[in-house]
Amino acid sequence: AIERTLSIIKPDAVAKNVIGKIYTRFEEAGLKIVAAQMKQLTREEAEGFYAAHKERGFFKDLVDFMVSGPVMIQALEGENAVLKNRELMGATDPKKADKGTIRADFADSIDANAVHGSDAVEAAAVEIAYFFGK
Ligand code: CMP
Repeated sequence: AIERTLSIIKPDAVAKNVIGKIYTRFEEAGLKIVAAQMKQLTREEAEGFYAAHKERGFFKDLVDFMVSGPVMIQALEGENAVLKNRELMGATDPKKADKGTIRADFADSIDANAVHGSDAVEAAAVEIAYFFGK
C-alpha cells in the first residue's frame, strides 16, 4: 500500500553536509519527499517527539543530542514507505547496520545515528502530525 512515514536527518548528518546524499537514497528507492522543514528543535519539542522513550536511561542523552544543532524533517510517501525507509536506514546501532545502509555509511554511534524513521504506520501518522499538522 502507499504509505507515509516521518524521517528526521539528525544533527550529526546535517553537520556532515550529507542531506542531499540521504535524499538521493530516498528518491532512488521510490520514496517521494512530500513535506520538509529544517529546524532547530527546542528541548520541549524533542522531549514531546520522543515521549515514548521518557523512562529509558538514554532519554536525556537523546534529547541533548537532538537539540545540539538543526535537523531536517521530512514526510516520505511511497509503496511500503515505513518498512522501505527502515531498510534504507539500517539498524539503530550503526555498528550493527548492514553495509550500504544510511547508518552504516553516515552514522557514528547509537545516539549520533544520522536518521530517525517511524517504526509503524500508526506511529508515522502521529509523528507527521507532530511536525506538519494534518
Ligand atoms: P531513533 O530511531 O531516533 O529513536 C530513538 C533513539 O534513541 C534512537 O534512534 C537512538 O538514536 C537513541 N538511542 C540511544 N540509545 C538507545 C538504545 N539503547 N536503544 C534504542 N535507541 C537508543
